[in-house]
Amino acid sequence: MTANTAAAAQPRIPSQEIGSLFHTRWSPRAFTGEELPLKTLMGLFEAARWAPSAMNAQPWRFVYALRGTPDFERFLSTLAPPNQLWASRASALVALVSQRFLALPGKAELAPSASHSFDAGAAWTQLALQAHLWGWATHAIGGFDQEKAREVLAIPDDHQLEVFIAVGRQGDPAGLPDWARTREQPSDRRPLEELVREGSFGAGRPPRR
Ligand SMILES: Cc1cc2nc3c(=O)[nH]c(=O)nc-3n(C[C@H](O)[C@H](O)[C@H](O)COP(=O)(O)O)c2cc1C
Repeated sequence: MTANTAAAAQPRIPSQEIGSLFHTRWSPRAFTGEELPLKTLMGLFEAARWAPSAMNAQPWRFVYALRGTPDFERFLSTLAPPNQLWASRASALVALVSQRFLALPGKAELAPSASHSFDAGAAWTQLALQAHLWGWATHAIGGFDQEKAREVLAIPDDHQLEVFIAVGRQGDPAGLPDWARTREQPSDRRPLEELVREGSFGAGRPPRR
């Protein structure tokens, strides 16, 4: 499998020399709807599994549904209607859930985790980059009915539903609604100068050249 070459059709220009993996990945909404081999999906979870986390707590959990199954329709029904329109063509929908409490060494009671969402975010990125390496696309979806999704997926109270992830092979944008078709291209990023300071956040200096 090769990196998503369709996604690389309009390359982003990074301002520093970096591995192409990072700037050629993007989040399309047009998917082919083709079957996602289970082995590939498990490979994505495996890549996510190796993400770093505070105290190696590994708070990420994944719940998946494959296109063409009743589960897929259940997952889809929890998404905001505009997201349902395009995510219906994904090959799989994955719910990323994080555990809000962690076991501390020597303590019987679980403690609230300060970084469960941060850690789950790291896992999502690894999943997305692995998919891209194998020629599959991913698209994170934060627009969903939190209450309904928690109920539909039977998420326990001590877990947080972070995001859904659409996984699929990039497809023809012609089938997208107008609003989505016009956005079907890689987006740019803020310049490094806006993101980085030396020495202090408030009184810091721009990065050195
Ligand atoms: C936490 C999160 C939630 C998002 N929610 C949505 C969403 O509900 N609908 C959507 O179309 N895109 C959603 N996106 C996709 C972002 O808009 C997209 O990642 C961002 O514009 C950067 O573009 P790129 O991923 O193509 O580089 C979400 C992304 C993240 C990380």
